Amino acid sequence: MRNKPESADTNPGSIVILISGRGSNLRAILEADLPCRIAAVISNHADAPGLGIARQHGIQTMTVEHRNYPDRQSFDSELAICIDSFHPDLVVLAGFMRILTHEFVMRYKNRLINIHPSLLPAYGGLNTHARALQDGVKIHGCTVHFVTEDLDHGPIIIQAAVPVFMDDTPATLGARVLHQEHRIFPQAIRWFCNGQLNLDADGIVRIQDTEQRETALISPRMESRQCAS
Ligand code: GRF
Repeated sequence: MRNKPESADTNPGSIVILISGRGSNLRAILEADLPCRIAAVISNHADAPGLGIARQHGIQTMTVEHRNYPDRQSFDSELAICIDSFHPDLVVLAGFMRILTHEFVMRYKNRLINIHPSLLPAYGGLNTHARALQDGVKIHGCTVHFVTEDLDHGPIIIQAAVPVFMDDTPATLGARVLHQEHRIFPQAIRWFCNGQLNLDADGIVRIQDTEQRETALISPRMESRQCAS
Protein backbone atom coordinates (compact mmCIF):
# COMPACT_ATOMS: atom_id res chain seq x y z
CA MET A 1 0.00 0.00 0.00
CA ARG A 2 1.10 3.55 -0.64
CA ASN A 3 2.36 6.29 1.62
CA LYS A 4 2.18 4.50 4.91
CA PRO A 5 3.15 6.34 8.05
CA GLU A 6 6.23 5.47 10.13
CA SER A 7 4.41 2.70 11.89
CA ALA A 8 3.67 1.06 8.54
CA ASP A 9 4.30 -2.47 9.76
CA THR A 10 1.47 -2.25 12.21
CA ASN A 11 -0.78 -0.01 10.11
CA PRO A 12 -2.64 -1.92 7.41
CA GLY A 13 -3.81 1.19 5.58
CA SER A 14 -6.06 4.18 5.71
CA ILE A 15 -9.42 5.23 4.37
CA VAL A 16 -11.19 8.47 3.55
CA ILE A 17 -14.97 8.57 3.87
CA LEU A 18 -17.19 10.87 1.79
CA ILE A 19 -20.63 11.85 3.05
CA SER A 20 -23.43 14.25 2.16
CA GLY A 21 -25.81 14.07 5.10
CA ARG A 22 -27.00 12.11 8.12
CA GLY A 23 -23.99 9.83 8.51
CA SER A 24 -25.56 6.72 10.04
CA ASN A 25 -23.37 4.48 7.87
CA LEU A 26 -20.38 6.60 8.84
CA ARG A 27 -21.25 6.00 12.48
CA ALA A 28 -21.48 2.24 11.91
CA ILE A 29 -18.05 2.28 10.25
CA LEU A 30 -16.50 4.37 13.03
CA GLU A 31 -17.91 2.04 15.68
CA ALA A 32 -16.83 -1.15 13.92
CA ASP A 33 -13.23 -1.21 15.13
CA LEU A 34 -11.86 -1.78 11.63
CA PRO A 35 -8.25 -2.78 10.91
CA CYS A 36 -7.45 0.54 9.24
CA ARG A 37 -6.99 4.18 10.08
CA ILE A 38 -9.82 6.56 9.19
CA ALA A 39 -7.79 9.49 7.92
CA ALA A 40 -10.62 11.95 7.22
CA VAL A 41 -14.30 12.47 6.53
CA ILE A 42 -15.11 14.84 3.67
CA SER A 43 -18.51 16.30 2.86
CA ASN A 44 -19.89 18.37 0.01
CA HIS A 45 -22.18 20.09 2.56
CA ALA A 46 -20.67 22.08 5.46
CA ASP A 47 -23.79 21.41 7.55
CA ALA A 48 -23.93 17.63 7.03
CA PRO A 49 -24.84 16.11 10.44
CA GLY A 50 -22.36 13.30 9.76
CA LEU A 51 -19.47 15.74 10.14
CA GLY A 52 -20.43 16.12 13.80
CA ILE A 53 -20.34 12.34 14.24
CA ALA A 54 -16.84 12.27 12.77
CA ARG A 55 -15.65 15.04 15.09
CA GLN A 56 -17.10 13.24 18.11
CA HIS A 57 -14.85 10.33 17.14
CA GLY A 58 -11.82 12.59 16.80
CA ILE A 59 -11.67 12.22 13.03
CA GLN A 60 -10.49 15.13 10.90
CA THR A 61 -13.25 16.65 8.76
CA MET A 62 -13.09 18.63 5.53
CA THR A 63 -15.71 20.30 3.35
CA VAL A 64 -15.60 20.76 -0.40
CA GLU A 65 -18.88 22.52 -1.22
CA HIS A 66 -20.01 21.47 -4.70
CA ARG A 67 -22.01 24.71 -4.97
CA ASN A 68 -18.77 26.68 -5.11
CA TYR A 69 -17.68 25.03 -8.37
CA PRO A 70 -19.05 25.85 -11.81
CA ASP A 71 -19.21 22.24 -13.03
CA ARG A 72 -18.80 18.61 -12.08
CA GLN A 73 -15.27 18.45 -13.47
CA SER A 74 -13.89 21.27 -11.34
CA PHE A 75 -15.65 20.04 -8.19
CA ASP A 76 -14.36 16.50 -8.66
CA SER A 77 -10.79 17.62 -9.26
CA GLU A 78 -10.81 19.77 -6.10
CA LEU A 79 -12.34 16.85 -4.20
CA ALA A 80 -9.59 14.55 -5.50
CA ILE A 81 -6.90 17.01 -4.35
CA CYS A 82 -8.47 17.02 -0.88
CA ILE A 83 -8.74 13.20 -0.78
CA ASP A 84 -5.18 12.67 -2.05
CA SER A 85 -3.75 14.92 0.66
CA PHE A 86 -4.62 12.04 3.06
CA HIS A 87 -3.07 9.32 0.82
CA PRO A 88 -5.88 6.82 1.41
CA ASP A 89 -5.77 3.20 0.30
CA LEU A 90 -9.56 3.16 0.04
CA VAL A 91 -12.20 5.83 -0.58
CA VAL A 92 -15.62 5.05 0.90
CA LEU A 93 -18.84 6.67 -0.33
CA ALA A 94 -21.17 6.57 2.68
CA GLY A 95 -24.24 8.42 1.46
CA PHE A 96 -22.29 10.72 -0.86
CA MET A 97 -25.02 12.09 -3.12
CA ARG A 98 -23.01 13.24 -6.12
CA ILE A 99 -22.61 11.68 -9.55
CA LEU A 100 -18.88 11.34 -10.18
CA THR A 101 -16.97 12.09 -13.36
CA HIS A 102 -15.12 9.50 -15.44
CA GLU A 103 -11.77 10.98 -14.37
CA PHE A 104 -12.63 10.73 -10.69
CA VAL A 105 -13.84 7.14 -10.94
CA MET A 106 -10.75 6.09 -12.93
CA ARG A 107 -8.40 7.81 -10.47
CA TYR A 108 -9.71 5.58 -7.65
CA LYS A 109 -10.31 2.46 -9.73
CA ASN A 110 -10.66 -0.65 -7.55
CA ARG A 111 -10.32 1.40 -4.38
CA LEU A 112 -13.62 3.28 -4.39
CA ILE A 113 -16.67 1.61 -2.82
CA ASN A 114 -20.28 2.66 -2.34
CA ILE A 115 -23.36 1.48 -0.46
CA HIS A 116 -26.66 1.47 -2.29
CA PRO A 117 -30.10 0.85 -0.73
CA SER A 118 -31.31 -1.91 -3.07
CA LEU A 119 -30.35 -5.34 -4.26
CA LEU A 120 -28.42 -4.27 -7.34
CA PRO A 121 -28.73 -4.49 -10.28
CA ALA A 122 -32.38 -3.82 -9.37
CA TYR A 123 -33.34 -0.27 -8.45
CA GLY A 124 -30.24 1.76 -9.19
CA GLY A 125 -30.76 5.49 -8.69
CA LEU A 126 -33.06 7.24 -6.22
CA ASN A 127 -36.24 6.38 -4.28
CA THR A 128 -35.38 2.71 -4.18
CA HIS A 129 -37.75 1.76 -1.33
CA ALA A 130 -40.81 3.45 -2.87
CA ARG A 131 -40.06 1.84 -6.24
CA ALA A 132 -39.65 -1.60 -4.68
CA LEU A 133 -43.00 -1.21 -2.87
CA GLN A 134 -44.68 -0.05 -6.05
CA ASP A 135 -43.47 -3.16 -7.86
CA GLY A 136 -44.71 -5.41 -5.07
CA VAL A 137 -41.38 -7.19 -4.63
CA LYS A 138 -41.31 -9.41 -1.57
CA ILE A 139 -37.58 -9.15 -0.92
CA HIS A 140 -35.50 -5.97 -0.98
CA GLY A 141 -32.12 -5.04 0.46
CA CYS A 142 -28.80 -3.27 0.08
CA THR A 143 -25.51 -3.66 -1.75
CA VAL A 144 -21.87 -2.64 -1.25
CA HIS A 145 -20.03 -2.44 -4.57
CA PHE A 146 -16.95 -1.08 -6.26
CA VAL A 147 -17.73 2.12 -8.13
CA THR A 148 -17.43 2.17 -11.90
CA GLU A 149 -18.59 4.68 -14.46
CA ASP A 150 -21.83 2.79 -14.85
CA LEU A 151 -23.93 4.33 -12.05
CA ASP A 152 -24.83 1.77 -9.35
CA HIS A 153 -23.52 -1.14 -11.43
CA GLY A 154 -19.97 -1.85 -10.26
CA PRO A 155 -18.71 -5.23 -9.03
CA ILE A 156 -20.75 -6.38 -6.05
CA ILE A 157 -18.92 -7.12 -2.77
CA ILE A 158 -21.74 -7.97 -0.36
CA GLN A 159 -25.54 -7.77 -0.23
CA ALA A 160 -28.16 -8.14 2.50
CA ALA A 161 -31.78 -9.07 1.80
CA VAL A 162 -34.79 -8.22 3.96
CA PRO A 163 -38.47 -9.20 3.67
CA VAL A 164 -40.96 -6.61 2.44
CA PHE A 165 -44.06 -6.52 4.66
CA MET A 166 -47.61 -5.94 3.39
CA ASP A 167 -48.01 -2.79 5.46
CA ASP A 168 -44.57 -1.33 4.75
CA THR A 169 -44.11 2.30 3.80
CA PRO A 170 -40.91 3.57 2.18
CA ALA A 171 -39.87 4.71 5.68
CA THR A 172 -40.42 1.38 7.47
CA LEU A 173 -38.83 -0.59 4.64
CA GLY A 174 -35.96 1.90 4.48
CA ALA A 175 -35.31 1.51 8.20
CA ARG A 176 -35.18 -2.29 7.84
CA VAL A 177 -32.72 -1.98 4.96
CA LEU A 178 -30.62 0.65 6.74
CA HIS A 179 -30.14 -1.66 9.71
CA GLN A 180 -28.54 -4.15 7.33
CA GLU A 181 -26.47 -1.44 5.64
CA HIS A 182 -24.86 -0.80 9.00
CA ARG A 183 -23.86 -4.46 9.18
CA ILE A 184 -22.55 -5.10 5.67
CA PHE A 185 -20.66 -1.85 5.00
CA PRO A 186 -18.11 -2.30 7.82
CA GLN A 187 -17.72 -5.93 6.75
CA ALA A 188 -16.87 -4.95 3.17
CA ILE A 189 -14.30 -2.42 4.40
CA ARG A 190 -12.80 -5.01 6.74
CA TRP A 191 -12.37 -7.45 3.83
CA PHE A 192 -10.74 -4.73 1.73
CA CYS A 193 -8.36 -3.71 4.52
CA ASN A 194 -7.44 -7.34 5.16
CA GLY A 195 -6.64 -7.83 1.46
CA GLN A 196 -9.39 -10.43 1.05
CA LEU A 197 -11.12 -8.87 -1.98
CA ASN A 198 -10.05 -9.85 -5.49
CA LEU A 199 -11.57 -9.04 -8.86
CA ASP A 200 -11.40 -11.96 -11.28
CA ALA A 201 -10.94 -11.70 -15.06
CA ASP A 202 -14.71 -11.31 -15.52
CA GLY A 203 -14.84 -8.43 -13.05
CA ILE A 204 -16.52 -10.55 -10.36
CA VAL A 205 -15.48 -9.96 -6.75
CA ARG A 206 -14.01 -13.07 -5.11
CA ILE A 207 -13.60 -12.98 -1.34
CA GLN A 208 -10.96 -15.11 0.31
CA ASP A 209 -11.62 -17.04 3.49
CA THR A 210 -15.34 -16.47 3.79
CA GLU A 211 -17.88 -19.02 4.81
CA GLN A 212 -20.72 -19.86 2.40
CA ARG A 213 -23.91 -21.12 3.96
CA GLU A 214 -27.01 -22.29 2.15
CA THR A 215 -29.92 -20.39 3.63
CA ALA A 216 -33.00 -19.02 1.89
CA LEU A 217 -35.02 -15.93 2.74
CA ILE A 218 -38.62 -16.68 1.72
CA SER A 219 -41.03 -13.78 1.94
CA PRO A 220 -43.83 -13.87 2.98
CA ARG A 221 -43.24 -16.81 5.27
CA MET A 222 -44.51 -20.17 4.01
CA GLU A 223 -47.19 -22.12 5.89
CA SER A 224 -45.52 -24.40 8.36
CA ARG A 225 -46.86 -27.66 6.85
CA GLN A 226 -45.24 -26.69 3.53
CA CYS A 227 -41.99 -26.10 5.36
CA ALA A 228 -41.93 -29.61 6.83
CA SER A 229 -39.81 -32.05 4.86
C1 GRF B 1 -28.02 5.22 2.77
O1 GRF B 1 -29.29 4.68 2.62
C2 GRF B 1 -27.14 4.74 1.65
O2 GRF B 1 -27.46 3.46 1.20
C3 GRF B 1 -27.38 5.74 0.56
O3 GRF B 1 -27.53 6.96 1.23
C4 GRF B 1 -28.00 6.73 2.55
C5 GRF B 1 -27.04 7.41 3.47
O4 GRF B 1 -27.50 7.37 4.80
N1 GRF B 1 -26.32 5.73 -0.41
P1 GRF B 1 -26.53 7.77 5.99
O5 GRF B 1 -26.07 9.19 5.69
O6 GRF B 1 -25.41 6.80 6.01
O7 GRF B 1 -27.38 7.71 7.22
